[in-house]
Amino acid sequence: MNKKQLVGKLHWFYSLELEQVDLYTAQAKQMEDIYLAKTLARIAVIEQQHVDNMAAAIRRLDAEPTRLGDVLAPVLGKASGVISGVLGPKTVLKVGITLEEKAMKDYKDLILRVGDEHLFNTLWDNLIDEDLHTAWFANKLKELEAIN
Ligand SMILES: [Fe+2]
Ligand SMILES: [Fe+2]
Repeated sequence: MNKKQLVGKLHWFYSLELEQVDLYTAQAKQMEDIYLAKTLARIAVIEQQHVDNMAAAIRRLDAEPTRLGDVLAPVLGKASGVISGVLGPKTVLKVGITLEEKAMKDYKDLILRVGDEHLFNTLWDNLIDEDLHTAWFANKLKELEAIN
């Protein structure tokens, strides 16, 4: 992978992470379940750390972080139309799981292809955070599905 391709990949992550900050922040405000609301808000803070570490990685490659156009629609497919509206907690969790799983898959793919140790470790950090988010979302979804 050449430098231009790597910068392109990092821009995709940078944009996805930004979308997640916006989405989880908005969803946190709509949730009646305080534990879910607080967790979404906390996860949004962690996604902002990912935005910042991707921006730093892009700058280390002498490029300027730039937000790409819609990156959510290709990931969410048909579900992308619904995220602008107010969603129930189960849909919020399902959308979250889809986004986190896509991020994890792509972080894993990129980890295998980078030689730079600093970037390698940053990608691992983000991957593990996404894994923890996915696990929490999946567990909460199971809990909600058990009660209704
Ligand atoms: Fe993230
Ligand atoms: Fe995440």
